[in-house]
Amino acid sequence: MRSPARQQAKATVPELAPAAGAIQETRDRVKRAYGSAIGRHRRDLVTPALILDLPAARRNIAKMAERLKTMPAKIRPHIKVHKSPELARLQVDAGAIGLSTATIWEAIVMVRSGLDSIFIVNTLAGREKLAALAEIAREAEVMVAVDDPQNTADIAAAARTAGSEVGVLIEVDTGMDRAGLDTPEQAVELARRVAGMEGLELMGVTGYEGHCSLTPERDLRASRQRVAMSTLVDAAERIRAAGLPCPIVSAGGTATWDWTATTHGVTEIQAGSYAVMDNFHFPMAGDFEKALTVLATVISRPPDRVIVDAGNKSLGAPALSTMRGHDLKAMRFDEEHGLFIAEPDYPLHVGDVVELVPGYAPGTVNWYDAYHVVEGDRVVDVWPVIPRGPGHGGLIS
Ligand SMILES: Cc1ncc(COP(=O)(O)O)c(C=O)c1O
Repeated sequence: MRSPARQQAKATVPELAPAAGAIQETRDRVKRAYGSAIGRHRRDLVTPALILDLPAARRNIAKMAERLKTMPAKIRPHIKVHKSPELARLQVDAGAIGLSTATIWEAIVMVRSGLDSIFIVNTLAGREKLAALAEIAREAEVMVAVDDPQNTADIAAAARTAGSEVGVLIEVDTGMDRAGLDTPEQAVELARRVAGMEGLELMGVTGYEGHCSLTPERDLRASRQRVAMSTLVDAAERIRAAGLPCPIVSAGGTATWDWTATTHGVTEIQAGSYAVMDNFHFPMAGDFEKALTVLATVISRPPDRVIVDAGNKSLGAPALSTMRGHDLKAMRFDEEHGLFIAEPDYPLHVGDVVELVPGYAPGTVNWYDAYHVVEGDRVVDVWPVIPRGPGHGGLIS
């Protein structure tokens, strides 16, 4: 029997906020706060400012779409990289079959922004999150990763309560040592349970090979990718051999996307960083352009260094950041100080404006309310980063 505390807790499961609510409020706030930047030169913005080079992002998205035309897999791009419904829309318009997200809140924002077929490439737990998942699955096709029988049963129960059906992909650990089942036998066992649960639809397997992104050396990365994908495809084949459906086999990040998209048996990839790029991914996927920068101002100029107003609260993986057009080595990043080594006569002075390429895009955008969208040197729009941060941001009431 449930304890009174649990019964009480159940009664307070929050509901999704009205469709237009939190998202429209964010949009309105961002336009009010940053809209005056529209029409300005990119160098005239208040810093630090997040800048999206829209033509470059469009070229990245078009290049991925074009190259995938000759490959067997489709793309369901990961939008945790940009957290932008506008960029997600461009990706879908270019042929993406849906979107991947890391959080339930990202999924809700995408659905409520008119986008469909969302795969939350993450295991989800917690009463409120499962209730939100089940609710949003009433409005769109929504899938989630699972690797635990009780959690799977909890998702099914939430879906039955909401009167929805949640798509489920069995997560397999393909070598990243993060979430996911370790053996194909475990994957078949969980798939069998899922297939028997009302409220769930067994959609396939997922096994992001994230450890390959941490393997800069190309040959080693390729061999790790092959091992990872043979584990994943093996799990899918065994699920099918057990008489169960497994239409989706999903994996692939920017560091391995083309290898994974051409691996026999993989049906779709989850790559995301290719759309905006960053210094972390660029050495492994250099045919995509760096479309994301942070505008910063020099705020101090000791003889041996240049200090800008973008520190580790303005940049993801700041140590990997570079200053566009300046060959200066990053030295240290405090919260509001970014330090670069420079000779005394290096021509940068207090008040000068510079543009930094972030080390890691997802960890960068998460700090900002808005993108300053530029074409050439002009700001043509401001787009919200939404949902910013890990919280629900008012998406549930
Ligand atoms: C589960 C999952 N899939 C896909 C991706 C996208 O990878 P990338 O940003 O390298 O394209 C990530 C990124 O961390 C991820 O965690």
